[in-house]
Amino acid sequence: MAPHTEQLTRPAVRLRGLTRSFEGRTVLDGVDLDLPAGQFTALLGHSGSGKSTLLRAIAGIDHGVAGSGTLTAPERVSVVFQDSRLLPWRRVLPNVLLGLDGEDAEERGRAALAEVGLGGRERAWPTELSGGEQQRAALARSLVREPELLLADEPFGALDALTRIKMHALLRRLWERHRPSVLLVTHDVDEAIVLADRVLVLEDGRIGLDLTVDRDGPHAHGGYRTQLLKALGVSEDAP
Ligand SMILES: Nc1ncnc2c1ncn2[C@@H]1O[C@H](COP(=O)(O)OP(=O)(O)OP(=O)(O)O)[C@@H](O)[C@H]1O
Ligand SMILES: [Mg+2]
Repeated sequence: MAPHTEQLTRPAVRLRGLTRSFEGRTVLDGVDLDLPAGQFTALLGHSGSGKSTLLRAIAGIDHGVAGSGTLTAPERVSVVFQDSRLLPWRRVLPNVLLGLDGEDAEERGRAALAEVGLGGRERAWPTELSGGEQQRAALARSLVREPELLLADEPFGALDALTRIKMHALLRRLWERHRPSVLLVTHDVDEAIVLADRVLVLEDGRIGLDLTVDRDGPHAHGGYRTQLLKALGVSEDAP
């Protein structure tokens, strides 16, 4: 399903002049960024380039950025990390429902678990789930909150290649169904192209490249790949 044009004109996130330094070292240097509602965006960049720092700032969980730049973000924001962060002393369903109230909360939690293929595992302990299943439970936990913005920091980074491919399909399907704005931080150029409609490269504290991935256009995956690797300063011929 193609994104609705009128929906995409309304920015979900509007960031202007965000600067973040640690001990005098500037990591983010006046970042400007608009994320349209309902858009799937991936964020690439070298290790240490500030991807997680930017994501934390947008999530509103970095109090150190206060007063630097301006940020407008939706009310309902969910964050998914590389590890599932499920509480080991709670079963899967209570983990998904954590902090959620309302009469229909349990029903919604069960529905979210079914959506990620974990129907029937509601009473399992987190340690009884595989890594991929734990990440699916984490996705269910974020989905059940019906986020307008889903921030994901290398959510598949710790998974094996096969599980990662399945998770790609699942995330894309969930996005098509629920249409949150997504900002996915990843190291993986191919993952970015496969999943996102727009790929950003963070470089020297700013967005260095802003690439639109046109799935129906003439450019093949390889063309985007070459462009992104070049922006990242990596040669495809490198051993
Ligand atoms: N709380 C902190 N205190 C001091 N330095 C920090 C802090 N958080 C991040 N940094 C520094 O800021 C820089 C950017 O970190 P960040 O975690 O955003 O990078 P990243 O692009 O997410 O890297 P990776 O791909 O390895 O996850 C790093 O040099 C890091 O050491
Ligand atoms: Mg990071």
